[in-house]
Amino acid sequence: MLDNWDAFEEECLKCKKCGLCEDRTNVVIGMGNKNAEVMFIGEGPGENEDLQGKPFVGRAGQLLDKMLTAVDLDRNKNIYIANMVKCRPPKNRDPKPEEMDCCIDWLRTQVSLMRPKIIVCLGRISSAKLIKEDIKITKEHGRFFEKKGVLMMPMLHPAAVLRDPRRKPEALNDFLILRDKINEICDRTY
Ligand code: URA
Repeated sequence: MLDNWDAFEEECLKCKKCGLCEDRTNVVIGMGNKNAEVMFIGEGPGENEDLQGKPFVGRAGQLLDKMLTAVDLDRNKNIYIANMVKCRPPKNRDPKPEEMDCCIDWLRTQVSLMRPKIIVCLGRISSAKLIKEDIKITKEHGRFFEKKGVLMMPMLHPAAVLRDPRRKPEALNDFLILRDKINEICDRTY
């Protein structure tokens, strides 16, 4: 496994492990503080992300930023954001299991370089892959699951909250739960 960020990014930008490389404008590696204690993992880049080479820069990203701000988190300061796949699935479909399998070693490298204390999985796709296959996101969001010494928290995907704004209060409540946990176990975030 690659042992530094520069080598990792150089290799990742050249990736052709799956078909998603064919139509990409950019490989969306991730962004934020590489020394953060908290990592967020979404699904995959959409159109805006593909064009800009950064995760969560469309409408869902704007909502994510608002909720982050509400608990004093900032993607440019104290968290890192990545996705299950680093290239855009066509027409924003869900990434296929085989595409996630091709991409997961990149994510594993990011996690091993960062060694986050908390990983937040945004939406069912990353929660099912990283926490447990049969996760019921509508019921289990906001809880913590421990895996290999890392606390994993499923959250509603901000795009799902945009589709059903009645879920905003429960989505925001998860961020309050996250803030409490950060205060409890992290010493460099706030
Ligand atoms: N949705 C995601 O899951 N990831 C992004 O980067 C953008 C939208």
